[in-house]
Amino acid sequence: MEIHKYEKWWMIFGTGTLIVFLIILGVSAFHGGTHPNNSKWTINYENVDQIEPFNNPGLHKVEGKDWDYEVVLVAQAFAYNPTEIEIPAGSKVRFIATTKDVIHGFEVAGTNINLMLEPGYVSEKITTLDKPGTYTIVCNEYCGSGHALMYSTLKVVDNNDNN
Ligand code: CUA
Repeated sequence: MEIHKYEKWWMIFGTGTLIVFLIILGVSAFHGGTHPNNSKWTINYENVDQIEPFNNPGLHKVEGKDWDYEVVLVAQAFAYNPTEIEIPAGSKVRFIATTKDVIHGFEVAGTNINLMLEPGYVSEKITTLDKPGTYTIVCNEYCGSGHALMYSTLKVVDNNDNN
């Protein structure tokens, strides 16, 4: 069987791009950590508002745990509840988040907080917020027509500056 020269180039090009994409995917998944969360905590996404702790979204100070605060967060098209989070600098925080409809992202730009929120699952992240500042929270999973408008704010405040 004879393959035309140009046909051969196209076959090499097609196979080549496939390999390149697989390498990019592999590096971002295994090295960059971009993958769906492997949470074992499931939830009925249709009743999120009735289920603890999501019946009370917001920032909560906790005692007797390894962290100082819990941020309970509910995402839905196209907003986050709470819309703004303010945390004292240096606090250890556990983020507990889920979605009421489709897949959303929860990325706090400039930090290592980057969660994928999947309907039916609870995503968690424990981290310490050391650097005071105002951080933008963005949805980095395409979720519909309002996706680009889906954001909120995380303020890490240095209490010593406020008095
Ligand atoms: Cu929510 Cu994109």
